[in-house]
Amino acid sequence: MTMESVAIAAYLVAALLFIMSLAGLSKHESAKSGIWFGIAGMGIAVLATIGLAFSEAISTVGAILMGIAIVVGAVIGLWRARVVQMTGMPELIALLHSFVGLAAVLVGWAGFYMVEALGDAQTEVNSDLLGIHHGEVIVGVFIGAVTFTGSIVAFLKLSARIDSKPMMLPGKNFLNIGALVLFAALTVWFVITPNIGILVAGTVLALLLGWHLVASIGGGDMPVVVSMLNSYSGWAAAASGFLLGNNLLIVTGALVGSSGAYLSYIMCAAMNRSFISVIAGGFGIEAPASGDVDYGEHHEISAEEVADLLKDASSVVITPGYGMAVAQAQYPVAELTRQLRERGVNVRFGIHPVAGRLPGHMNVLLAEAKVPYDIVLEMDELNDDFPSTDVVLVIGANDTVNPAAEDDPTSPIAGMPVLRVWGAKDVIVFKRSMAVGYAGVQNPLFFKDNSSMLFGDAKDRVEDILKAM
Ligand code: TAP
Repeated sequence: MTMESVAIAAYLVAALLFIMSLAGLSKHESAKSGIWFGIAGMGIAVLATIGLAFSEAISTVGAILMGIAIVVGAVIGLWRARVVQMTGMPELIALLHSFVGLAAVLVGWAGFYMVEALGDAQTEVNSDLLGIHHGEVIVGVFIGAVTFTGSIVAFLKLSARIDSKPMMLPGKNFLNIGALVLFAALTVWFVITPNIGILVAGTVLALLLGWHLVASIGGGDMPVVVSMLNSYSGWAAAASGFLLGNNLLIVTGALVGSSGAYLSYIMCAAMNRSFISVIAGGFGIEAPASGDVDYGEHHEISAEEVADLLKDASSVVITPGYGMAVAQAQYPVAELTRQLRERGVNVRFGIHPVAGRLPGHMNVLLAEAKVPYDIVLEMDELNDDFPSTDVVLVIGANDTVNPAAEDDPTSPIAGMPVLRVWGAKDVIVFKRSMAVGYAGVQNPLFFKDNSSMLFGDAKDRVEDILKAM
């Protein structure tokens, strides 16, 4: 049996393990086994690839370079995964997508140098299939370059290194469509007469398009963008698979590409966003109105006064957001919940589908702090109950409780479903300042008559309330 047939069998097993991994990850209870299937599949894939390289008489320099790349990659990967905070997860994922994009660009360029530039066509590619090879090179480079710069912009926005507001270049939709038309023309030209000039032009065009597509999308839609880039990175890997003649890379890329696209679609439906608009770089979204609206005065409240309100309440809803994660306030929040429940208060949590910075972020934090599952409800299960609620504690949430999403059609988050906390008798907002939330828009909730601001770090303030009680 040759190493090649062993590798083909190993790739098949790895592909099956990846499918089982996705199936496992789709449910809470089986998620852990899903991860293990994924790890096993990737381990088998890496070993089979190394075995294949050695069976093809890899040069000593090649073997040393491969060893160094694996060790350096594994060390950096393990280190980053160990130190990353839950709040930093989406930006790490965005950065990793950019590596997949860059790898696809490099594979495309290497394919060009092996075949089109150096004329190795007879040994590498059957001459009847040369046209297909030219097409694979330029399409692979294009998808990879869009993923690369798009993911870098997503990383910069998610880590607040650049403003999360959408970039609004004049005629942005025409720029995107124009870039696609130009790329189609370049592809045809490259397939007929492959040369480095066209490849450079295609690469630069794709890099600019990737940057523009993601820069044009506002912070509120970033969760969808991250999952969309996940999908793009899958298609970029599949394109590399075609170029390298690697079936496993094609299967894996297609799995990541299609599951990422489906996840983006589900998230768009949950957030009442148009899928086409988001993948087309905010197509149809106009520049948000200027922010100088007079919302009136906000009222401040002290921790002691909040404690008094809670003592008299019979029903309390807590709506946590990103700020609870930053402050690590889940432990005192869990303690407050326990004490209130002991006093006979009906305490429930309302979780918005995109609260925090990744799906399920709040549920994980609350489970960590041992808040009982049965009082942690989804937005739709609770949204009609606010008018009969005495006190709502908005702990470090902002966009997810913004009434402008329902009342202001010009708001960048217009149409996004939100927790209707303002319907309750009293709303207490925990935050450190009057600063805007992730989507970069002001929140009229803070200025409503039944809302009061409790300023400061959420963990400190909840601890103050516990002391006062
Ligand atoms: P945000 O709208 O980002 O608001 C968080 C609030 O927490 C801010 O107003 C901030 O105000 C406050 N805060 C920060 N640190 C705090 C601390 N230590 N103590 C007290 N308050 C603190 O959060 P959200 O309501 O959870 O909404 C999530 C947003 O993130 C949405 O726009 C969503 O689209 C986006 N997003 C979500 C995801 C997913 S999948 N969940 C992924 C990426 C982006 P101060 O600065 O004044 O304290």
